[in-house]
Formats: sequence, structure tokens, C-alpha cells
Amino acid sequence: MNIIKRVSQLRAAITGAKQAKKRVAFVPTMGNLHQGHLDLVKRAKLEGDFVVVSIYVNPLQFGENEDLSKYPRTEKQDARLLADLDVDMLFLPDEAAMYPGGDIGQQTMVDIPTLSGLYCGEQRPIHFRGVTTVVARLFNIVQPEVAIFGKKDYQQLFLIKKMVDDLAFPIEVAGVETAREESGLAMSSRNGYLTKAQIKKAATLRKVLVETADAIKESKTRSKTSVQKLTKQAFKDLEKAGFDPHYLHVLNRLTLLERQKEDKELVIIAAAQMGKARLIDNIEIDL
Ligand code: PAJ
Repeated sequence: MNIIKRVSQLRAAITGAKQAKKRVAFVPTMGNLHQGHLDLVKRAKLEGDFVVVSIYVNPLQFGENEDLSKYPRTEKQDARLLADLDVDMLFLPDEAAMYPGGDIGQQTMVDIPTLSGLYCGEQRPIHFRGVTTVVARLFNIVQPEVAIFGKKDYQQLFLIKKMVDDLAFPIEVAGVETAREESGLAMSSRNGYLTKAQIKKAATLRKVLVETADAIKESKTRSKTSVQKLTKQAFKDLEKAGFDPHYLHVLNRLTLLERQKEDKELVIIAAAQMGKARLIDNIEIDL
């Protein structure tokens, strides 16, 4: 595995791969890799024949009081895991490579109005602008044919697909199912902020989503009020398990906007605080 830190080196290697008619598959990450990330890499290997993974903890997507300085950094271990999977290239840019000229926040930004400010964006107003901006820059540097993202970050995946459509990036975006602990808890680098007791309780987030999804499927009317009742109950169940729930919405998954009665392809997305960790999860529903 080739470990590369500079944009010019990466461009040269990618040019070589493309001249050799290789299909470049790209997995952007912030490191501290777990099985969820590795599932994306495995998918990338199926989708392409030259796999690039990036690790960059992107300051632009962290709010002032968030966990940028505490975000777990485990580069050596990450590199070992990726080498074991025969990844072709690990891109490890520093801040100067990602934000040349310094003065972070003054660069050209990619911002998606409205949708970036909903759900996770309500509590984290600059977060998605930071994500789409860094992913756009990474896409232009790596120039992959296909890029792989996790469904765990459902709103992020949706916004990246939208950015790719809106700005005509010649890139396919593939979404991969969420990797979970045996308890159902979605794997996340932020689970490391939880105590053992909290990890046990955190599995309730998945449980509540499954129960709410089942109740929606079984509901005869699926009226606005009956779905509101179910989401209220879900909030209560999360609170009982020790969560501070931030939101739980039943959405049309094709628009990521409020579901209408006749909609068949839905998703429930939720975020809730457990101790020091802000956890998110979701479940798709086909009616
Ligand atoms: P990070 O949180 O490191 O996640 C990198 C990728 O792994 C994302 O596509 C995310 O959805 C996916 N992922 C995380 N946990 C997963 C799980 N349990 N199962 C499946 N996939 C999972 O998301 C980011 O980094 C950043 O915002 C980034 C896109 C790299 C931009 O900075």
C-alpha cells in the first residue's frame, strides 16, 4: 500500500492508474477505522480495481464546541488494517494540503441550502457545509469513478449524492449498509466516548427504531397523528434508556423531506445524546 501525503504525488499515482485503465474507487474517512469503514473498503474493491482511502479529520465540519481536538486519531493501526485489505493507496493529507493558503473558513464552500440546515444540521449548522466542501475537494484531487459512503450517515450520503448531481461530478456514489455490534448498536468512532454501561444502554437507539418502523408498517391508517404518536413514544423510550434525544423524523427517503401519506419509501432518522457521545442511526422502511 502506497501512503501519500501530498496532492501532487497523489495526482501522479492516479494518472498512472488511469493510464493503466484502472477504475478508481474512493473511500473518504476521518480514520479510527472500524468494521463499518472496512465494509466500505470491501465494497470499493468490488466496484473498482484501484482503491484509494483517505484519512483526514476535517476541521471545517466541526462546530466550535465539538470534539475536533478529542477526535480519536489512530493512523498507524488504520494503515495496518488497510494494508491487510490490500488497499492500493492511503491518502493522508495535512491541513496545508487540504486547505492551502490557510485561513480555514475563507475557502470556496459547497453549501446545499435548506437540507444542510435540517435534522443533524439544526444542531450542527456548519457541519454539512464542511462535509460537502471537503468531499468536493477530495473528489477533485482523487478523481474516482466511484465513491463509497455509509448509510449510517444517511443525511450525509443524501447530500453527497445531491452535490454530485447538482455539480455534475462524473462520479457514481454507492451507499453501504450500516455495520453493527451484536447488540444492534451502529459502529461509530464516537462509541469510544461511552462507558461500558452506556454502551449497553445505547443499543436501545436501534431497538426503538426497529420498533417504530414495525409499528408504522403495521399501522392501518398511517395518518399524520398516528405517526406523530409513534415518534412521541419513541422519544419517551429513548429518554427512559438514558438518552437525551435530539430528533427522530419519519421522512420520504427520496426527498429526505417530511413523508406524505401515500409515500412508500421511507426512512426514520434519529440522533440522541448518550453521555459524551452524540449518536445517530436510521432505518429504511418499504411499505
Ligand atoms: P467517518 O465518520 O470516518 O466515516 C467515513 C465513512 O464511513 C462514511 O461514509 C460513513 O457513513 C461510513 N461509516 C461510519 N460508520 C459506519 C458503519 N457503522 N457502517 C457503515 N458505514 C459507516 O463521514 C465521515 O467520516 C466524514 O464526514 C467524511 C465523509 C470523511 C468527510 O470528512
